Amino acid sequence: MKFNIFRSANGSEGGPKDPTDVPRMGGQVLPHAEAERPAERQDVEIGFDQPAPETPVRPATSDGEPMGPIKVAARDVSVFYGDKQALYDVSLDIPDKTVTAFIGPSGCGKSTFLRCINRMNDTIPIARVSGKILIDGDDVNTRAVDPVLLRARVGMVFQKPNPFPKSIFENVAYGPRIHGITESKSEMEEIVERSLKRAGLWEEVADRLHQPGTGLSGGQQQRLVIARAIAVEPEVILMDEPCSALDPIATAKIEELIDELREQYCIVIVTHSMAQAARVSQRTAFFHMGRLVEHGPTEEIFTNPRERRTLDYITGRFG
Ligand SMILES: Nc1ncnc2c1ncn2[C@@H]1O[C@H](COP(=O)(O)OP(=O)(O)OP(=O)(O)O)[C@@H](O)[C@H]1O
Ligand SMILES: [Mg+2]
Repeated sequence: MKFNIFRSANGSEGGPKDPTDVPRMGGQVLPHAEAERPAERQDVEIGFDQPAPETPVRPATSDGEPMGPIKVAARDVSVFYGDKQALYDVSLDIPDKTVTAFIGPSGCGKSTFLRCINRMNDTIPIARVSGKILIDGDDVNTRAVDPVLLRARVGMVFQKPNPFPKSIFENVAYGPRIHGITESKSEMEEIVERSLKRAGLWEEVADRLHQPGTGLSGGQQQRLVIARAIAVEPEVILMDEPCSALDPIATAKIEELIDELREQYCIVIVTHSMAQAARVSQRTAFFHMGRLVEHGPTEEIFTNPRERRTLDYITGRFG
C-alpha cells in the first residue's frame, strides 16, 4: 500500500493530528497564505538544470551496478537554527533501491539534512528550512502535505533504539493502527508477523510477542524499531547512526538487514564508521561544515575522492 502524503481535498487531515504541523501563536492558528490552497496533488515543475527525479536507471557504482530512479531530490536546502546557519544550499539526488551513506565530522549537518527529508525539523521550534525536497517529484514542504503521512512514507530509525513502552506486537501494530491500514485482527497479525520477519526478528520473538519491547536486547530493539517503521510500508527509510549503540554482532545483523531492505526501499544511513559506509552503501555523500562537499558511488568516494577535504576525512586526518 502506498501512502498519499496529501491532506484530503475537503481540508480534513488524511491522518492523525500532528501538533507540530500548524504555525501557532498563543494557541491561535496563524493565518497562512497557503492555507487556502486547494489540496489536490499538483505536479511540481522541476526547474532544475540537473535531471528531474524521473531520471531512469543509471550507474550507481563505478563498476556500473544499476541504481533505481531518483526518489528524493534536494535542491538548495539550507537550514537555520535561530540565526545560525547549519546547512548551506545542499542539492543531492538520492536514488531508490539504493543505500546512500552520509558521512562527515560531528556537527557538519548530517542529521539536520536527514531531518529535512521527513520534515522532522518542523518539531524543532527554532529550525527554519529553505529550498526544496522533492519525493517522487512532490515538494514535501508545502501546506498540502500532511507531515504525519509524510513520516509514515519516510520512516526514521535513530541512534538509540526507541521502542514504545508497549508489547512487541503493539510496537509493530502501532503505525498500521493509527493510519487505519486495517481493522481486522487477523490482518494485523499478518502485518506484524511479516514486518518482524522482514526485520529479521521474528524467530527471536515469535513466542513472546506480548512481552514488552523494552525487554529486548539493544540490537533486537533496533530491529523492532525497523519492523515498526516498515509495518506502514514506507518508501524511504532514514537511519541516523543506527548501529552506534550496538555491539559488532548486532551491528552485523542490522547491516545485513539494510542490505536486504535495499531491494525494496530507498535507504539513507548516517554513519561515523567509514567501514560501515563502505560495507552497506552504494553511494556516499560527504558533508563538512554544513556543506555537501561531494557525493558519488561509494567506491569512488573512498578510493578516488575529488576533494582534498574528503580525502583528509576518510583517511582519518580530521573529524
Ligand atoms: N536542535 C538544534 N538547535 C540548535 N542547533 C542545532 C540543533 N541541532 C543541530 N544544531 C546545530 O547544527 C549543526 C549541525 O548539527 P547536526 O546534528 O546536523 O550535525 P551531525 O553532522 O549530525 O553531527 P553528529 O555526527 O555529531 O551527529 C551543529 O552546529 C549543531 O550544533
Ligand atoms: Mg547527527
